Amino acid sequence: MKEVALLYDADYFLGRSQNLYNYLTSIYRDLHQFPELSFQEKRTSSKVAEELKKMGIEVKEKIGGYGVIGNLKGAKEKPLIALRADMDALPIHEETNLPFSSQHRGIMHACGHDAHTAILLGTAQILSEIKDQLSSSVRFIFQPAEEVNEGAKAMISEGVVDEVDEIYGLHNLPILETGKVAVKSGAMMGSVDKIEISVIGNGGHGAIPDMSIDPIVASSAIIQGIQSIVSREISPFEPVVITIGSIHGGSSYNVIPNEVKIEGTVRTLNLQTQRKIEGRLRELIENVAKSYRCSVKIKHINMVPPLVNWEDNVDCVKKAASQIVGENNCMEAQPVLAGEDFSLYLQRKPGAFFWLGCKPKKEEEVFGLHHPKYRIDESCIPLGSAILAMLVYMRISEIL
Ligand code: NI
Repeated sequence: MKEVALLYDADYFLGRSQNLYNYLTSIYRDLHQFPELSFQEKRTSSKVAEELKKMGIEVKEKIGGYGVIGNLKGAKEKPLIALRADMDALPIHEETNLPFSSQHRGIMHACGHDAHTAILLGTAQILSEIKDQLSSSVRFIFQPAEEVNEGAKAMISEGVVDEVDEIYGLHNLPILETGKVAVKSGAMMGSVDKIEISVIGNGGHGAIPDMSIDPIVASSAIIQGIQSIVSREISPFEPVVITIGSIHGGSSYNVIPNEVKIEGTVRTLNLQTQRKIEGRLRELIENVAKSYRCSVKIKHINMVPPLVNWEDNVDCVKKAASQIVGENNCMEAQPVLAGEDFSLYLQRKPGAFFWLGCKPKKEEEVFGLHHPKYRIDESCIPLGSAILAMLVYMRISEIL
């Protein structure tokens, strides 16, 4: 870090974010009440665009679906620093009983993307107020469809990060105390693959199996066999999960069906391992099916790669966050195999993704992400805004 006197310091960004508390929580509660599923974020995105325009930020809409970008011009075009928030909700029926619970039946912001959106609007507001002092430019990326792993891909294909020099994002974490941040360099979140298998036999009477080819018995052998890839072919020091989450076949106790459909997911922290498993899954499934006289159709979809943080940018996050929450509150993150399509930006551009604590104060209100009773401590919102504003300001002032 250079020894340069900052025109704006942590107290300034914290103070501004606290002044925005009511504005930010009202945005958050509004979005929470009207959640929208992936690629349907129409209301959310127009709200975001409207707020950015009020701040005097140049706005582009309908990018990669309902994606929005805001460009805040500093003295120079480059370096261009991007910040990203996701906006979509989940097909979950909310059970929080909050006064601002979801008004959209069966849809819930159970991953806190409403908070991410409010946080980034807060950062945009804070930085727009000091735009004359910004030596280069900032891009705010409001992304649709993170939950289906499609939104980042769609926005990237429209060139939103082509000009970007580095990119940062965050995710709330309801098991981490509010006021804490967790980050690590290298792989922090898992790759996501989806596998769809059709095991095809030849149906018939359940009492005359010798006249049939039974895809149910073959499927059970396939599902058992798959786990041996994890236990026998991958180093025990390498985190890998293969989960079969769905199996459908047959409609009666005494009929052998023609076909069984199986779906599952593969998670790793390493691109080579991801590829290796993909190849071995195909071999194992085809050969086991064949040994049971069945044929198979396999569709293996690489949804997102592992999320791998860039070391230098993680350093920047740690330094900026330390200014806001204190060095002792910046923790080393434990990797998880949940996926996050921010990984696609990090494959193209340097940057970092971090966890922001949002643990509710009452223990009985703590539920994990994607839980119907999930909720956040709203005071994480201005803190998130302040951290991102501090990070960008320090980066473009070349202090980090
Ligand atoms: Ni999420």
